[in-house]
Formats: sequence, structure tokens, C-alpha cells
Amino acid sequence: MTAFELIRALAHDAPIGIVVTDPMIESPGPTILYANAAFGRLVGRDLADIVGHSPRFMQGRETRRATLDAYRHALVAGERFHGYLANYRADGTKYRAEIDCRPLRAADGRIENFISFEREVIRRIGRPVGSAAGRYEPTSVSNDALTGVLRALNVFEHV
Ligand SMILES: Cc1cc2nc3c(=O)[nH]c(=O)nc-3n(C[C@H](O)[C@H](O)[C@H](O)COP(=O)(O)O)c2cc1C
Repeated sequence: MTAFELIRALAHDAPIGIVVTDPMIESPGPTILYANAAFGRLVGRDLADIVGHSPRFMQGRETRRATLDAYRHALVAGERFHGYLANYRADGTKYRAEIDCRPLRAADGRIENFISFEREVIRRIGRPVGSAAGRYEPTSVSNDALTGVLRALNVFEHV
């Protein structure tokens, strides 16, 4: 079983958005191979309208180019990207996504896929800010088993 197959088996009912792409970084890639139901809810689209497309469809006017450049550099370097992006739903509403994206490697080290964990966050009001992570909080918090595993893996740093 590949890492991708394992994730597909576990991710379906997870409350956090999970999306897996192929390893092609250059446009028109990466292509979405799998998205769970929570990802469909996050981006406001049917899964059938997500799979087969590039994740760039969520971007819009207020999506910061500098953050996308950092994202792209992380993908090229085969490193994790953790950041916050303004994205848009199919109906045009804007949301802020916290994105934790990692390469999935074959046994020989080759990158086979990228996986991203995504959730909506809102700006914290009236709290001291130490880092970007301190500036936002998730719109909902879950305590299911998979979220516990993700927390143990430091996904989002604090799920
Ligand atoms: C698994 C995965 C998930 C992604 N999810 C998003 C997303 O939710 N929103 C977004 O704006 N970009 C997302 N991206 C980033 C874009 O696909 C693209 O890599 C980014 O725009 C930088 O590349 P570019 O400079 O060629 O556009 C994702 C990329 C990967 C590999």
C-alpha cells in the first residue's frame, strides 16, 4: 500500500480538508488526484469539480503572490510549506486557509505526491501576536482520532 492509498482510506470522513496532488509543480500541474469531503466543504465545490484540476482555482485578487512564491519554492525544494492564504469559494466568498503541505516520497526518496491539510482560520482579535500562527485561529476545532494523529505529527503545529 502506498502512502497515498493509506491516506485515501483514512481521510474520507476527516473533519480537516485533505487534498493530494501529483508531483508536477509546473503549470498546468499540480493536478488534484484526491480530495476529501471536508475539502469540498472548505472550497465550496463538489468533489467532481475539484479532482483533475490544479489547486490554483481557489486563488484570487487578495491571494498574496509572495506567499505563493514561498509555497512554490517549498514544493521545488521538496520541503514542507506551512502558511496562510486568502482563497475563494466557487460563489466568490473569500476565506483564509491555513495550509500544511508536505511531499509524499517513495522508498527511493522520489516525490510521488504532495498532500495538503487545509482548514479555515480567522484573525484573532486582541491577543498578543508572536508569529503568523498566533495571528489566526481555526473556525472549528475537532477531537476525532485522525485529528489527534495529525496533532501528534505536528500538522498545523497546534490542531
Ligand atoms: C497538495 C497541494 C495543495 C494546494 N492547495 C492550495 C490551496 O488550497 N490554495 C492555493 O492557493 N494554492 C494551493 N496550492 C498551490 C498551487 O497549486 C501552486 O503550487 C502555487 O500557486 C504556487 O505555484 P505557482 O507559482 O506556479 O502558481 C496547493 C499545492 C499543492 C501541491
